[in-house]
Amino acid sequence: MPSLADKKIVVGITGGIAAYKSAELVRRLMDHGAGVQVVMTDAAKAFITPLTLQALSGRPVRDTLLDSSAESGMGHIEIARWADHLVVAPASADFIARLASGMASDLLATVCLATSAPIILAPAMNQGMWRKSATQRNIATLMADGITIVGPASGEQACGDVGPGRMLEPSEIISHLTRTGNNHSLDGASVTITAGPTWEALDPVRALSNHSSGKMGYAVAIAAAAAGAAVTLISGPTALNPPPGIQYRPVQSAEEMLAAVEQDIDTCNVFIGVAAVADYRPLRSETSKIKKHSDSVTLELVRTPDILARVAQHTKRPFTVGFAAETDRAIPNAREKLHNKGLDLIAVNQVDETNNPFGSEENHLILISKTDEIDLGRDSKTVLAEKLISEIAHRYHDEYSA
Ligand code: C5P
Repeated sequence: MPSLADKKIVVGITGGIAAYKSAELVRRLMDHGAGVQVVMTDAAKAFITPLTLQALSGRPVRDTLLDSSAESGMGHIEIARWADHLVVAPASADFIARLASGMASDLLATVCLATSAPIILAPAMNQGMWRKSATQRNIATLMADGITIVGPASGEQACGDVGPGRMLEPSEIISHLTRTGNNHSLDGASVTITAGPTWEALDPVRALSNHSSGKMGYAVAIAAAAAGAAVTLISGPTALNPPPGIQYRPVQSAEEMLAAVEQDIDTCNVFIGVAAVADYRPLRSETSKIKKHSDSVTLELVRTPDILARVAQHTKRPFTVGFAAETDRAIPNAREKLHNKGLDLIAVNQVDETNNPFGSEENHLILISKTDEIDLGRDSKTVLAEKLISEIAHRYHDEYSA
């Protein structure tokens, strides 16, 4: 992991209950040997005191734009120039809106506007506020402006709601800072990713499917976009919002997913099949709801197309990466898949009592290629996605510059 020692980091804190986690973020950055200047908005001070952050960072907290005493020392332009990195955590909906419209209405927004250092925002807000189209528009604008958005995570919120809007943990933010702060490893590459389950219709209201939440595939899409790729995400039905700044194609069945993938197959540079594609579909899909006239029914199932294998065997094939969830003999089974489907790389997760990635925020991935095997460890799907993208980027470049 690249070192943060001696890096100068501005930590911006805006108003939100997640501001209590910012103290931990500052402490951990100091532990890494970074110099930290905290800048707070007025709303942030309702949640955590400047004194706490001053004690942790060893520097007076800055919170006022037109403060004559401070401006004579380190003024707002000096803070903007001083920073190697700027991290705003938590970034509230209001702050995101102000930044997206280029306002310089307080010290933190002004520093963000003035700096040429890479900026990372860790949004935190109520799930309804996060899902609102105004917020999503603002996030898309900021991403297009080159700002890295990390998170939010989904789960239980302080307000009692459940959904996306939780600020990432300080360790995850630091991992983003070290990995993607200045990452252009996939600049100019076009990357197509499949995610989520597929639904194979039995009738208009019933389907065969599986427990894939889509979280791993969406995290991979976000990490690829953060690394500079033009990303297309082809997703089966999930509860997740389309990530901003990414071309999104929703599909239902394996056949529809294949058709969407075929649109890109000649033009994409990297294909990553994360979807848990149903292996079988009902031979017939009834046009009206099947009635329960008898105690048992027999379904005739037929194989779905293997999308990943088709991509890997295409004449003008992209760098092709698959996923494998295995309950036993994970590594040998995955190696067999790598060989049989003709992949460049396969990411394998063992599904057992200690690791069930379906629906979870965490996973444990091992990468296997024809020549090596790398354990990416157990971590959040966000962090694993970044590690995976960085491995894919250097292997893709090695392959195409050879
Ligand atoms: O053969 P298996 O289903 O275990 O392989 C898993 C990998 O193959 C995943 O990358 C998945 O996205 C892909 N796959 C596919 N089409 C299928 C089945 C699996 O693209 N019909």
